[in-house]
Amino acid sequence: MKLELHGVSKKYSDHNVEALKEVNLGIEAGDFIAICGPSGCGKSTLLNIIGLIDKPSLGTVSFGGADINALTDEGLTRLRGQRVGFVFQFFNLLSTLTVEENVALPLEIASSNKGHAASMTEGDLRKKVMETLERVGIAKRASFYPSQLSGGEMQRAAIARAVIHSPEILVADEPTGNLDSESGKVVLELLKQLNERDGQTIIMATHSAEASGYAGRVIVMIDGKIVSEAGSGIGASSSENVKPSPSADNVDLESRDVKPVSGDV
Ligand SMILES: Nc1ncnc2c1ncn2[C@@H]1O[C@H](COP(=O)(O)OP(=O)(O)OP(=O)(O)O)[C@@H](O)[C@H]1O
Ligand SMILES: [Mg+2]
Repeated sequence: MKLELHGVSKKYSDHNVEALKEVNLGIEAGDFIAICGPSGCGKSTLLNIIGLIDKPSLGTVSFGGADINALTDEGLTRLRGQRVGFVFQFFNLLSTLTVEENVALPLEIASSNKGHAASMTEGDLRKKVMETLERVGIAKRASFYPSQLSGGEMQRAAIARAVIHSPEILVADEPTGNLDSESGKVVLELLKQLNERDGQTIIMATHSAEASGYAGRVIVMIDGKIVSEAGSGIGASSSENVKPSPSADNVDLESRDVKPVSGDV
């Protein structure tokens, strides 16, 4: 088990919002998980905790056996920098840097922190960046600035930046939420390839039934709780088999291949 959440609750005390309520979740290496549910149900809050951006108010998160509650903020930041990659709905590329410079950033930061990439030469770094850009299919755009890219290309650059340091977990918060369906499909195919070919563990929040169809596990959240989990067990192209994520009103916990998550329903 790579990452385990036990009884994780998150309260935003300033507005007294209980965004997560006793969530239990185990994530194995190589999982591709979609987290679905209505707006405000706690998807991003959960991803922030999984991605070590935030700590729970209650409960435990164990990352590769390490209890994150026991880490200092500095320790948490270091762990996140080395072992997690993030992709967001709005890309978050730095507009004054080229694609190549954006993608190189995580390695340069690791290097300046005297982390594992400390010994990387300028030549090695450039080679690694170009290999990663090849993998996501935008090597020809290496010298472009973000404003010169299409939305789909921007998201592929963001994915390259998120995976260049070979993170154990790739966290994607609505990675296709801001793309037209064609570009969204390219991004989803890329995530699928990273998962299937490279064994990249991926946790993705999404509102789209098509996107959740790419995942091997589909988790439905409502009002801060995980209410069901199903294996989608289907390929990317057979979207007729994709179950739309249920709304708060019509969650069907009885349906044959959707199992309620113990203790959460
Ligand atoms: N910093 C914060 N302070 C107070 N409340 C917050 C904060 N961040 C999120 N919330 C609240 O927590 C709840 C869950 O928010 P979250 O962003 O996790 O939802 P979500 O499922 O990602 O929604 P969406 O699909 O719209 O992105 C919401 O009701 C939101 O208003
Ligand atoms: Mg969100």
